[in-house]
Amino acid sequence: MKTLVVATGNPGKLKEMQRYLAETDWKLQLKPSELDVEETGETFIANARLKACQVAEATGKWAIADDSGLAVTALDGAPGIFSARYGKDDGDRIDRVLRELGPHPDRSAQFICAMVVARPDGSVALEAEGICPGEILPSPRGADGFGYDPIFFVPEANRTFAEMTPEQKHQLSHRGRAFALLLPQLQALKIG
Ligand code: IMP
Repeated sequence: MKTLVVATGNPGKLKEMQRYLAETDWKLQLKPSELDVEETGETFIANARLKACQVAEATGKWAIADDSGLAVTALDGAPGIFSARYGKDDGDRIDRVLRELGPHPDRSAQFICAMVVARPDGSVALEAEGICPGEILPSPRGADGFGYDPIFFVPEANRTFAEMTPEQKHQLSHRGRAFALLLPQLQALKIG
């Protein structure tokens, strides 16, 4: 088995990533908890690079990081790269998006995920980006998932992320789409 250190402290993300890698010969290892990377980039891909490269360099192992978030069209792309910092907890962040959007007729939004794999020397090996288009509902629906899942409605599936099975979210989500692009490249990597 080959090991990838995953640069996240978010258990929801870790669980999803483990599913995506289930059929590969890579296994995930959580980054050391004392290793914190400041997300100072201005884009999803810049932040994913920062996290993957710094964790790889600090551990001397292959590392994977994603940076993701929700971009609401009528809010000029907010919360965007600030998605994780938009409120004190998931409920608070959802309330803020709903309050800021109010009854605005344009409900369109997208989830974006940038994914980076870094080599043990801290250089970028692979990158991929996935997007899932959807709409912001006026109130939350569904109990599964995490983050903004209950207010993110995916017309293609006629349900919110929080109403999907993990398999369905895996197929349609921004993270799933980024992984679909990354996995063949990851499998083809020559390491060691
Ligand atoms: P990151 O850890 O900086 O990438 O933070 C991403 C934030 O965006 C998370 O804390 C969530 O609030 C939100 N987010 C990212 N992906 C998802 C998802 O699949 N569902 C719901 N919220 C998400």
